[in-house]
Amino acid sequence: MILIIDDDIGIRTSLNLLMKQAGLDAFAVPEQNSAIKWLREHTPDIILMDMNFTVSTSGEEGLELLRKVKILHPEVPVILITGWGTISLAVEGVKLGASDFITKPWNNNQIIESVKTNLKIAEINSTDKPDTNCNLRKRYDLTNIIGNSTEIKEVLISAMRIAPTNATVLVTGESGTGKELIAEAIHNNSKRKNKPFIKVNLGGLSASLFESEMFGHKRGAFTDAHTDRTGRFAMADGGTIFLDEIGELDLQSQVKLLRVLQEQTFEVLGSSVQKKVDVRVICATNRNLPLMVQKGEFREDLYYRINLINLNLPSLRERSNDIPLLVNHFAYKLCKEHELPDINIDKNAYSYLKKLPFRGNIRELKNLVERTILMSSNSDIDSDNFIANQQYEIVNTNIEGGLTTIDNIEKEMIIKTLNIYKNNISGAARSLGLSRGALYRRLDKYNISYEK
Ligand SMILES: Nc1ncnc2c1ncn2[C@@H]1O[C@H](COP(=O)(O)OP(=O)(O)OP(=O)(O)O)[C@@H](O)[C@H]1O
Ligand SMILES: [Mg+2]
Repeated sequence: MILIIDDDIGIRTSLNLLMKQAGLDAFAVPEQNSAIKWLREHTPDIILMDMNFTVSTSGEEGLELLRKVKILHPEVPVILITGWGTISLAVEGVKLGASDFITKPWNNNQIIESVKTNLKIAEINSTDKPDTNCNLRKRYDLTNIIGNSTEIKEVLISAMRIAPTNATVLVTGESGTGKELIAEAIHNNSKRKNKPFIKVNLGGLSASLFESEMFGHKRGAFTDAHTDRTGRFAMADGGTIFLDEIGELDLQSQVKLLRVLQEQTFEVLGSSVQKKVDVRVICATNRNLPLMVQKGEFREDLYYRINLINLNLPSLRERSNDIPLLVNHFAYKLCKEHELPDINIDKNAYSYLKKLPFRGNIRELKNLVERTILMSSNSDIDSDNFIANQQYEIVNTNIEGGLTTIDNIEKEMIIKTLNIYKNNISGAARSLGLSRGALYRRLDKYNISYEK
């Protein structure tokens, strides 16, 4: 049963009808007191509520009602209905425990979608958790994600519980903890798995390019638009869009992104047609978004819009028990890929590795393992081999813009890796833990020639 609370009879009737059409039972009340009375006797599956009940548009009454509802039924998802102009109110609501907010005028599919997603999450939350890692791995495709520690298991369990829903997910965690990997795993274990997974690195996207990259453009839309271009949202239609490094997005682009997320429609530059898309959004960042919100660097409304579900990946330091497993995995894969003889890793090497700070987390460990194997001349590897290669890594993973010495070390490391890989860009990029694009950018930056 869905409870609808709205003082406008037109809205009550149309929401009621909409829910019926979607096969959901609904009951509607016009104001706060009758809502509370009903809620004392019944438990709905979900509540859809307006924020304003009188001519006053402050929304205070709505917030007050929400507080009471959350005391009576903390588990029941509440979806708020607000005007676009009063999004800050919705944000207040989310802080008080609302699950989602829809802006007026709404789009029918969007409401149904939100209701269904929240019903599913509530249902999943009330059923038992798959408790063992073994179960988890049997039930889901998690082949690339190595780890047995409780810390990573908890994240995987949550990720797999929400994978089948359409809920927006924010993946947080330090650099190199596997945010992208988990985003892909969510997509691969969802109904959308046979549709595109489109990754966009918002860190590399300037404010001026944002719209044409995300929404596409028509030929002639601006001076350099020589041909039509399909935007990332259109490419991801039916699938998942992964917005990486969302913390790097400038404020102007944040507003534009918020609009698409709210309305699920966008306008291709140079055309006045509204395009509709069906995309699931997963965002990732290693920045502290709440702090950025406090400092006014990140929009609070966008933060709550993307943060309906938060998965925080543990640092490698917090899951150091996984180190032996990870080391073996990376060593095995590297040897197979390069047709190297199997190697033996000495026990003392693991205890040594477990003590390292690994600020670059799994990426740093992976690079260290690969480099150590490639640099060592025999197949027995002990802690000394790791020590010899480690200094490099610590500096590499602490790159802070502009420090010449670190730039030099990075440059030197890229040159060495290119030599090992005989200028094969893909191989070198993989070994350095960079995307090919990121490696090319660095090759340009440092003026490194890479002809084969
Ligand atoms: N649990 C894991 N098992 C195996 N490999 C992993 C695991 N987690 C991460 N990796 C590997 O570590 C590297 C970094 O992972 P990923 O790119 O997903 O991290 P990230 O959190 O997105 O990092 P960044 O913040 O720097 O973008 C990749 O090569 C990935 O394959
Ligand atoms: Mg990443």
